[in-house]
Amino acid sequence: MVKLDTKVWIVDKDVDKSIGYPQIKEAAEYLRKNEVVAFPTETVYGLGGNAMSPLAVQKIFTAKGRPGDNPLIVHIAERDQVREIVSSIPDQAISLMEEFWPGPLTLLFPKGKQVPDQVTAGLDTVAVRMPDHPVALALLKESRLPIAAPSANRSGRPSPTTAQHVWEDLHGRIAGIVDGGPTQVGVESTVLDVSAPIPTILRPGGITIEELRMRLGEVQLHMSLVDEKVPPKSPGMKYTHYAPRGELWLVAGDEEQMVRTIQRLAKEAMEKGEKVGILSSDEHKEMYRGDVVISIGSRHDPTKMAANVYQALREFDHQQVTYILSETFSPEGIGLALMNRLHKAAGGKIIK
Ligand code: TXA
Ligand code: MG
Repeated sequence: MVKLDTKVWIVDKDVDKSIGYPQIKEAAEYLRKNEVVAFPTETVYGLGGNAMSPLAVQKIFTAKGRPGDNPLIVHIAERDQVREIVSSIPDQAISLMEEFWPGPLTLLFPKGKQVPDQVTAGLDTVAVRMPDHPVALALLKESRLPIAAPSANRSGRPSPTTAQHVWEDLHGRIAGIVDGGPTQVGVESTVLDVSAPIPTILRPGGITIEELRMRLGEVQLHMSLVDEKVPPKSPGMKYTHYAPRGELWLVAGDEEQMVRTIQRLAKEAMEKGEKVGILSSDEHKEMYRGDVVISIGSRHDPTKMAANVYQALREFDHQQVTYILSETFSPEGIGLALMNRLHKAAGGKIIK
């Protein structure tokens, strides 16, 4: 692969303040030339390329080292753009687009013929979302293109919540990075299949099942999210993902048991010479002895914990931790997405 000289464009998160924003114009020019450029969204940084160009889409897969059978989400800035990408719009999608776009909800539509097969990995559905981030929206509008964008990490690594994370993973492999500061939500969008008889969540994310039920009534989790033995319908969910380099174990049980188990296992691992990391909450941080103890926030503030989780997983790597014990959290609200990512990061390894 040719080594690229990755540009970095620094912009104010509130783009209205960067008058004329030449940085965004330049980044959009790159997209129009079918180069790939990373940019912030409200969830995580995305690696964008022209969704209508097989060449640009191929560059995304190559830069990430992403398996070709894992489809991409197409990002748009205006509702009308949906028509360019899909072959029909289910009624339920219309009401969801009204309520949740822009926002962290990805909807599956029957794929339009114009969309290259590489984008959807040969599937007959296409995933679409409108990100709720001024920089992302400005870039999408300026490019006048639908933009395919997976999370801007090397395949398998924790998703990037800052431009620095993108740089770590992808510098030299992509044309540029638009740096708009840290992202807000911190976990990816919810992927929802509205073509199923009961709307079905394929990947939990920024919009919670509780919020969707308020709008739609019945909403279910895909069986693969409930039973490990069922293969996922979102191809991306079958891979080990978001993984730090150290061996990560989740510890379940009631809070007291969980804390005691982590204390004991951390001590044993340190005695064996492991460099031990502990992913904690504010409530228990002071109770642990490990080489690197990181709190991602209060157990009462799952929004904050979700925003911090990927950063924490990367921090263990920076500190060259070899063995990580993680607390587990309530799967309510955004906690469901948080726990889903921790399960994937641990490759399913859990101590009950
Ligand atoms: O928040 C997000 O969604 C971020 C930002 C950048 O927008 N993007 C993101 O993309 O997380 P990615 O590629 O890392 O994850 C996309 C997920 C994968 O699990 C993929 O398999 C699934 O969406 N997906 C995409 N198209 C699909 C389709 N047609 N049917 C089922 N699942 C699909
Ligand atoms: Mg991803």
